[in-house]
Amino acid sequence: MSDLALIQNIGAHEGKTVTIQGWVADKTDKGKLQFLRVRDGTGVIQATLFHKAVSPEAFDLAKRIPQESSVRVTGEVRKEPRAPGGYELSVTDFQAVQLAREDYPITPKEHGIEFLMHNRHLWLRSSRQHAILRIRATIIKAIRDWLDNNGFMLVDTPILTPASVEGTTTLFETDFYGEPAFLTQSGQLYNEANAMAFGKVYCFGPTFRAEKSKTRRHLSEFWMVEPEWAFGTLDDYMNVAEQMVSYVVQTILQERATELQVLERDTKFLQNVVPPFPRISYDDAVNIIREKGDANFKWGDDFGAPDETLISEQFDRPVFVHKYPTAMKAFYMAPDPERPEVCLSADLLAPEGYGEIIGGGQRSDNLEYLEAQLEKHKLPREPYEWYLDLRKYGSVPHCGFGLGVERTVAWLCKLDHVRETIPFARMMDKMYP
Ligand code: 4AD
Ligand code: MG
Repeated sequence: MSDLALIQNIGAHEGKTVTIQGWVADKTDKGKLQFLRVRDGTGVIQATLFHKAVSPEAFDLAKRIPQESSVRVTGEVRKEPRAPGGYELSVTDFQAVQLAREDYPITPKEHGIEFLMHNRHLWLRSSRQHAILRIRATIIKAIRDWLDNNGFMLVDTPILTPASVEGTTTLFETDFYGEPAFLTQSGQLYNEANAMAFGKVYCFGPTFRAEKSKTRRHLSEFWMVEPEWAFGTLDDYMNVAEQMVSYVVQTILQERATELQVLERDTKFLQNVVPPFPRISYDDAVNIIREKGDANFKWGDDFGAPDETLISEQFDRPVFVHKYPTAMKAFYMAPDPERPEVCLSADLLAPEGYGEIIGGGQRSDNLEYLEAQLEKHKLPREPYEWYLDLRKYGSVPHCGFGLGVERTVAWLCKLDHVRETIPFARMMDKMYP
């Protein structure tokens, strides 16, 4: 067998004979010429079989091979400007690893979303899904690179926990050796302990919420990156978040231009994503809604998706909305010392109708305030005892935020729904495959 090659590096093998291992994505029969599109996970290449250049068995195999059979194909790499990717393989040998046993269910015709989600394990092989999931992988790498290069240390947080972070209505409960336990909604509380130990930290992992409504932004299992740091304030959080998000967007524009093209993503809005991001207060946002949307919007109400869209439409890049009503947000948010009815929180709203991609803020560092908040939110004290300890031993102002990976992918790829942003989505009514 000749040298193995990957399609993504095929240009480096021009003029040489190589073997590619992959799957037959589709094919065209032109009599004495068979054109196969072979996919190996890193790309797709056209493999051309001329009946005189291969054995009769190999030619016959190419003629009848079913879609998505696995193959080894050997040939000379030739520049071919008309072929997708710019190269083709002039085949000299062709073998099947396995002939697909049944007709492949996903054909070039249009399929409904239900059908595609049911066949997600196969749908992942399509070029659109490749583009989205490559962008996802690069977003995750860019986030980690940025944090690692800016003094944040990865410190992981547990998935099985005794306490809620973001309210008790979306908890997934499980059994922990006879004790009730919950799948984590956010690593934040443990991250605060990590920040008091290491200064600047982040956790990055799956988080879980039993979201009881079906929307295009909510998953039951999603990935969140959560930076947290000691001595940080609300303004520090917004400064860090805008730097990180800008780096991620600019990296995607540079490194994933081909994938953005596959998705037909107009990148005009993404070019603008550089600091500084506009910052408006919740009060300002309410005024925008009253002026341009619902004249009767009540101060103290949470924004719905249409409200967030309305707010973000006023700006050409992501916008921070800060100082939300204290009563609206989680128990740990620090109240504004000058106006305790609002808290030192901020959400980052993405443009083009994508809404909130980051939530965060400054945490209360005051023991008595947090004790009162636990009571107000009807949370039991015992599972939070360790958290209160952080306010007894060298409590300091600190801040942090959580960025949802899937909403970021949906925005950068301009997708209608988060279900395509993760290999296997978990949503209300969706556990298969
Ligand atoms: O605003 P959230 O609930 O904030 C927190 O969990 C904080 N404890 C984070 C922190 O400060 N360390 O969630 C943060 C982000 C949201 O902005 C959104 O991007 C994403 O997580 N998110 C979801 N993504 C998909 N499906 C869901 N059900 C989501 N819920 C939140
Ligand atoms: Mg939020």
